[in-house]
Amino acid sequence: MQKWIMSGLFFIACALAIVLMFNLPGKEQVAQENKPTMPKVTLDAAKAEATVKANCISCHGDQLEGKVGPSLQKVGAQLTNEQIFTTITKGKDAMPSFKDKLKPEEIANVAEWLAAKK
Ligand code: HEC
Repeated sequence: MQKWIMSGLFFIACALAIVLMFNLPGKEQVAQENKPTMPKVTLDAAKAEATVKANCISCHGDQLEGKVGPSLQKVGAQLTNEQIFTTITKGKDAMPSFKDKLKPEEIANVAEWLAAKK
């Protein structure tokens, strides 16, 4: 009798595990969330500069020389436009997220502008 219950429980556990395996978000889905897709934009340098002046210089310095945040003067040498887009969108450690403050297109424009700084 007990053996029967044990194997029943085992069977249920297995069934649950299989169901979970298919329902948990797949790797691709997780990657999608971690890496928001950058919209394609044509760089508008004047607009990027205005966005950065309004949102970023308090931490990155008005010459982007770095203050609380690191210098962004040569950020394009280290990061791609997409990496910069992700950092601005999601934030990173002490860097706040701008997801709710800026439109994806505005962030993409800034990312393109910064990525060109090498
Ligand atoms: C409240 C302060 C703050 C504001 C505002 C801020 N940042 Fe940052 N930023 C940081 C800090 C701190 C880091 C370093 C994060 C880390 O890697 O620990 C950072 C990192 C970055 C990085 C990555 C640099 C690297 O070398 O890894 C980029 C790019 C960046 N910020 C761009 C921006 C842009 C663009 C804005 C404006 C839209 C902005 N930041 C606004 C604090 C800020």
